[in-house]
Amino acid sequence: MARVYVTHEIVGDAMERLRAAHEVVVWERRDPPQPAELRAAIADVDGLLCMLTDRVDQELLEAAPRLRAIANYAVGYDNIDLAATAARGIAVGVTPDVLTDATADLAFALLLAAARRLPEAMAAVDSGDWRTWEPAQWLGRDVHGATLGIVGFGRIGRAVAQRAAGFEMTVLATRETPLDELLARSDFVSLHCPLTPSTRHLIDARTLTLMKPTAILVNTARGGVVDQGALAQALREGTIGGAALDVTDPEPLRREDALFGAPNLIVLPHVGSATITARSRMTELAVENLLAALAGRPMPHPVG
Ligand code: DGY
Repeated sequence: MARVYVTHEIVGDAMERLRAAHEVVVWERRDPPQPAELRAAIADVDGLLCMLTDRVDQELLEAAPRLRAIANYAVGYDNIDLAATAARGIAVGVTPDVLTDATADLAFALLLAAARRLPEAMAAVDSGDWRTWEPAQWLGRDVHGATLGIVGFGRIGRAVAQRAAGFEMTVLATRETPLDELLARSDFVSLHCPLTPSTRHLIDARTLTLMKPTAILVNTARGGVVDQGALAQALREGTIGGAALDVTDPEPLRREDALFGAPNLIVLPHVGSATITARSRMTELAVENLLAALAGRPMPHPVG
């Protein structure tokens, strides 16, 4: 029986399979463990089931000499120093496929909400500013027939393209259209690339100026893909028409962040995969990864 540390309570029956096979301890607080707390917690564990909020770096690994398996409860893995885990021979797994549709649905929900100004219209109902049916009030942008630029055409990007087909949108993807051209031609730009050194601040002051002044940026990938200072300025100056973000850098967004108070902005607390089905399946995949690696078998859903 191995020892496994889980850095947040998670949903789904699969945790019982993990508990039946191994000694499992779960971090109990709502806020994630601080790095020093996590280092102390995993000092004698063999397996770690961690969240995208946990930074797995050299320092953490040094605090866990027995660690041999890490199951990241996410499809993204920018929180993990893969060079450091590889140097130690630690298996790392992720949760691909099972959150594709949930995340694509949310990207589309954000696109529609921003295009049709749903937050402003809802706020008007709440505040009593709904006086009558007004022909020129809360006018939004057409989604049907518009051009959608998809940056990153992996599983989630392709799933967003399928949804766009139902709206008879013209879809441009960075797979065949250069980024600058895609930005210049799109009415909506949806980000679906992983965060890597080459995609950090891919959307910055220069690339924002390429976008149409009416265009809406949707980000359900990682906050670091967007230079948030540049985005805040672009929204305030009307360089682009709006932005809808499920991810920010950092998370949660600090109250003093330049984005707070920017016009035409929607921010959600990283809920792309937050459906009961997706999160339960993520638990299953993370547990399968740990059970396999701790039994000396290859992880079924390895990173990469
Ligand atoms: C992931 O799995 O990387 C997602 O961001 C979680 O919603």
